[in-house]
Amino acid sequence: MIRPLVAGNWKMNLDHVEAIHLVQQLGVLLRARSTERVDVMVLPPFTDLRSVTSVVEADRLALTVGAQHASDHDAGAFTGEVSLAMLARLGVRAVLVGHSERRQLFHMDDDTVARTFAACLRANLLPILCVGEPAEVRAAGDAAEYVEAQLRSALAGYERGRFVTAYEPIWAIGTGATAEPADVAEMARTIRAALPTDARGETPVLYGGSVTAATAAQLATEGRVDGFLVGGASLRADEFCDIVAQVNDCYAGRR
Ligand code: PGA
Repeated sequence: MIRPLVAGNWKMNLDHVEAIHLVQQLGVLLRARSTERVDVMVLPPFTDLRSVTSVVEADRLALTVGAQHASDHDAGAFTGEVSLAMLARLGVRAVLVGHSERRQLFHMDDDTVARTFAACLRANLLPILCVGEPAEVRAAGDAAEYVEAQLRSALAGYERGRFVTAYEPIWAIGTGATAEPADVAEMARTIRAALPTDARGETPVLYGGSVTAATAAQLATEGRVDGFLVGGASLRADEFCDIVAQVNDCYAGRR
């Protein structure tokens, strides 16, 4: 049985003081809603991680903390990079791997994605592997092949270990244009079929791309995904909790 996950990617927003405020608000709001069927995660910028994990531990909040990126190297002369061991030591449990903004803006290629994915598994950190096609690839009818190729490349050396996949069509990220639930469902099916057989039954397939409280319920039910990777809407505590509660309701069969 796959437990759904709703993860908030804060991107390069909020300093550590603002981050503490948001995670405290989230803690209060989550306690007031039924969210017991959903795992909740926040992915703050590096400089906020220590503050956020401290609040989560001290207040025993029902959420985990992930990072948005990590180096695929263990240590050494990699100016500006942060290692998985450093993150683990801070209480970080998960890492986004291959987010399209890393791929597009910071030239993270498929090989680096694959190495980072494998390094996360070795370091016992949960990789959230992001895949998704650009608009022109979808327009050409090649979205499934594109995403399958991304998965094949990232999973080439996979042997065992838990991970999460997130389908994030690039044209839907931060644009307000959400993918059609039927297209999300089809891609979720494609992704599940492309997963290694022994990982299939335990790997959540998330959707990300302009998810809001207004679109979450329909995307969760008709899109047949196991939760969401939420960007913009995760910066508003009430809206993010609303999304979590909606996914919870879908899984409780209340919708
Ligand atoms: P968005 O971002 O919800 O703002 O579109 C999603 C993401 O980049 O993970």
